[in-house]
Amino acid sequence: MRPSKEGNLIKKLIPHPIKRVLMRLANPMRKSALFAAVSDARRFKRHSQLSASLSSLPASAAQADLLRKMHSLEKGLALPDPAPGFGAAKARDLIQLAESYRGRHDEDWHFRTCVGVLQEYAAFQARYGHLIPELDAFLAKHASPEPGGTITVGRINKAGHETFDFGAFARSRHSVRNFAPQPVDEALILEAIDIARKTPSVCNRSSGRVYLTMDRSHIDAALDIQGGARGFSQTVPCLLIVASDVSAFYKVGERNQSFIDGGLFAMTLVYALHGLGLAACMLNWSKTPSQDKKLRKVFRIENTHNIIMMVAVGHMPEQVRVALSPRAGIESFYQRLETQEGV
Ligand SMILES: Cc1cc2nc3c(=O)[nH]c(=O)nc-3n(C[C@H](O)[C@H](O)[C@H](O)COP(=O)(O)O)c2cc1C
Repeated sequence: MRPSKEGNLIKKLIPHPIKRVLMRLANPMRKSALFAAVSDARRFKRHSQLSASLSSLPASAAQADLLRKMHSLEKGLALPDPAPGFGAAKARDLIQLAESYRGRHDEDWHFRTCVGVLQEYAAFQARYGHLIPELDAFLAKHASPEPGGTITVGRINKAGHETFDFGAFARSRHSVRNFAPQPVDEALILEAIDIARKTPSVCNRSSGRVYLTMDRSHIDAALDIQGGARGFSQTVPCLLIVASDVSAFYKVGERNQSFIDGGLFAMTLVYALHGLGLAACMLNWSKTPSQDKKLRKVFRIENTHNIIMMVAVGHMPEQVRVALSPRAGIESFYQRLETQEGV
């Protein structure tokens, strides 16, 4: 079809830089990348704490917030030379959050741990004669046997695993794509999740979550949507969907944090499975927003949970052929950090 006169006129009237941007946006690849980015941003805006007030925080967000704020105090207590009087505003803020949390969610583990941190914080400040009236009033009402604050670890605790060779352990893990027919004991999976709780996370907010199934029809349906286990999905006896709760995050700079924390959590989980003698294969969730929606239509996955990946889990066959997946030499993995010229 030939462009109309009016069409030509409009084209002439649009300044060149704007025309270039419009043409770029018309490119289908760019359009779908932009759509996905906007959809991700909307998910973050809707489900993180960006648009929530203290009184409307869902339990998961309030718990992450409690962890973040108590971590600020416990971290301060763990510094080489904590300044007497430090963190008073943060302590007041934590007390306010804890009281509001208690009103809505009772004195659960999160609340009690918060009291535990405040107890050690108060003892530290008292040693230097710093009194925070709100803190004393709060602790007069609440006492907790839950440990919180700091612990002392010796060198032996930190690196005393002389008999454990992490290099050999890590090098002995392979993605397995052919599992033995025997079922997996759920207790082993729970133990692996228990270990994965120790994964570092930003301000200890612990956003990693796991959906677990051994149900054949669930596994088949999930792997059908995932698509990366074709050819071996029928051998998978247990499937994990690893997620990260985006309500643990509260500012724009954290827009990718759930993927980082969730990825670290998944790695610990897979190492834990390996340590427990199980075989696993991580399965990507490199999906478009509509594919992500498709999974959420079939399975009940919380809206605040970003899906990080799936993990196929099973027992090792006596012998199994695995992909070599060779890695390039160490020189391609690092370089010395240098300043820019003129800096
Ligand atoms: C985030 C992530 C997604 C992956 N997705 C898939 C997948 O969909 N299907 C698959 O067969 N392997 C998948 N893998 C496994 C990789 O192919 C494998 O980790 C890589 O080749 C290195 O091999 P190794 O795990 O045996 O060391 C994935 C790995 C990661 C970390």
